[in-house]
Amino acid sequence: MNLNTNVIAHPNIALIKYWGKKDNNLFTPTKNSISYTLPYLSTTTQITLSQTNQDNIKINNVKQEAPSVIAFLNRFRDLFCIQEYFIVNTTNNFPTSAGVASSSSGFAALAKGLNALFDLKLSEKELSIVARQGSGSACRSIYNGFTIWHKGNNNDGLDSYAEQLFDEHHWPEFSMFVVLLSDQAKKISSRVGMQQTVNTCPHYQNWLTKSENRIPAMINGIKQKDLRMVGSLAEQDCLDMHYCMQTSKPVINYWTNRTKQITELITQMRNANILCYFTIDAGPNVKVMCLEQDKKTIVAEIKKRIPAICVLG
Ligand code: PMV
Repeated sequence: MNLNTNVIAHPNIALIKYWGKKDNNLFTPTKNSISYTLPYLSTTTQITLSQTNQDNIKINNVKQEAPSVIAFLNRFRDLFCIQEYFIVNTTNNFPTSAGVASSSSGFAALAKGLNALFDLKLSEKELSIVARQGSGSACRSIYNGFTIWHKGNNNDGLDSYAEQLFDEHHWPEFSMFVVLLSDQAKKISSRVGMQQTVNTCPHYQNWLTKSENRIPAMINGIKQKDLRMVGSLAEQDCLDMHYCMQTSKPVINYWTNRTKQITELITQMRNANILCYFTIDAGPNVKVMCLEQDKKTIVAEIKKRIPAICVLG
């Protein structure tokens, strides 16, 4: 056993989304999903053994109650029959809980760090299964590049894990940057929001079928490095997911006027033959997909409309 570890993980953004759990306790999803890991955003997590019988969590150097982190550490202790408590110090170089997928990199880093601390020698698949039990999307942040999360069918969740489809060198021209419209924590957590959608949205089953059918084409699009295919599938899947959110009861709306303005601008640019697409998660921020060579032009156009805007990536 090591006395402390320091690990890094990167957040991932879904191209084909996950929104809804089959089992709330095991964090198994209702559908398969595909994501891209953002290499330039990082969570760095240091874990040390605590001398007390409670966990101590600091996020961005501020001590926090962090119930979801404590629940994950309890689960980890149960899974691996471990008695120890931990001092966890985690920092993000990007906004936390604002729809930039900080929970995906956060729990992936925790799983990796605990693996290193106890020298468990877990495989990437096993790490993915462990990370999933902190936050579903975290199972995809074990990998760089493009990743698929297999929803699995077993009741024990052991066949619900992510796998790398293509590594980070496969398509270097592909770029995804974040238009940061808010760095505030979201009002409805994804955990609560997705449950509300599963329970109340009349269009949910329809989205599950449509979204699942997009998976083979998305894999093929990434394989062929076809931005038109990848971008249009991702954009449509995002819009369908947000339609489900907005037709849940009570309504879940993560969009602001600025979100709408950016999505309209992306569509306008595309109509003017600058190839770019958007995707949005549980927060107002917009992630833009384009080719590396067009990024400067697209960012400049966005900044022309909203000069004070912050872009990550
Ligand atoms: O893993 P969670 O609970 O943060 O949920 C993530 C949900 C979305 O980001 C909206 C979609 C996805 O597949 O990552």
